[in-house]
Amino acid sequence: MQDKTHLVDEITGHRRMRRNRKADWTRRLVQENRLTVDDLIWPIFIVPGTGIVDPIAAMPGVSRMSVDKAVEAAKEAADLGIPAIATFPDIEMELRDETGSNSLVANNLINQTTAAIKKAVPNIGIITDVALDPFTSHGHDGILRDGEIVNDETVDQVVKAAILQADAGADIIAPSEMMDGRIGAIRRGLDAAGHQSVGIMSYATKFSSGFYGPYREAINTKGLLKGDKNSYYINPANGTEAVRDAALDVEEGADMLMVKPGLAYLDICWRVKEAFGLPTFAYQVSGEYSQIKAAAMNGWIDGERIMMETLLAFKRAGCDGILTYFAPEVAKILAKR
Ligand code: PBG
Repeated sequence: MQDKTHLVDEITGHRRMRRNRKADWTRRLVQENRLTVDDLIWPIFIVPGTGIVDPIAAMPGVSRMSVDKAVEAAKEAADLGIPAIATFPDIEMELRDETGSNSLVANNLINQTTAAIKKAVPNIGIITDVALDPFTSHGHDGILRDGEIVNDETVDQVVKAAILQADAGADIIAPSEMMDGRIGAIRRGLDAAGHQSVGIMSYATKFSSGFYGPYREAINTKGLLKGDKNSYYINPANGTEAVRDAALDVEEGADMLMVKPGLAYLDICWRVKEAFGLPTFAYQVSGEYSQIKAAAMNGWIDGERIMMETLLAFKRAGCDGILTYFAPEVAKILAKR
């Protein structure tokens, strides 16, 4: 019986939320969302050479790997049950130029990596980015002409690069450069080249964000970048514009959509999933990763707990999965549960 001297009224007494929270078994029974290993995509960084595992200072626990080491890592990821990896190259400075021409070299670092992983680890999905920033001398995602990132020429090049990536064995092409019309152009290009089964995961809503800082250190574009990417990435202030941008990608044939960065854009995850119902992924980007790692290393937060909490938050926000540098760490924890 409710003690009448308490201030909680009778109606509250009939509506006690805590009843479902009272024991571990009730909490498990009513849990709405779960993170599983099937939700994880692991982004990795590739460098030329062999036997190289080169730690990235701004991303504690993450290293650039040579192709042979990336193959080992992919094998480990597949054994952990991680469905897919996403590869990003850190190529030699002398190979970078104004137009990012190395993106059109059939056996460039990214395509070598794909071919090697496909051969050694056939059961892991390989997702490749076609943005030009790892290949340009100015760090921009497209071709720079008279101070401008030229859209249509960039798209032409990105289509050619995407076909070479598919030729090398990429399963999903993920364009992150935010040029207009790229999804339709890539789809037509892949189909014409006989790659009907290669999918497109659009970086549909990519915001002009400070959270990419450590990534630019990882692929060494930090010192190169002239200006900013505001003329092609989305203004962080704009949600409706982001949904419109994603709508065009859906119309043009995207198979999957991505929201990037992740945690500060959970509203976009929700809106995009609700609006289109396509498989939707969040990219928990480098700055999000490093924030958690840095605070945990200082003993200020419980890193593992916050890692799991943020990933679960993406599921709650409607995401089907997450690109995260935590993927192997998370997969190991999930395997023990
Ligand atoms: C650019 C690209 C970026 C990331 C992946 N590809 C952003 C940028 O450098 O502007 C960021 C990934 C991360 O921060 O983890 N095409």
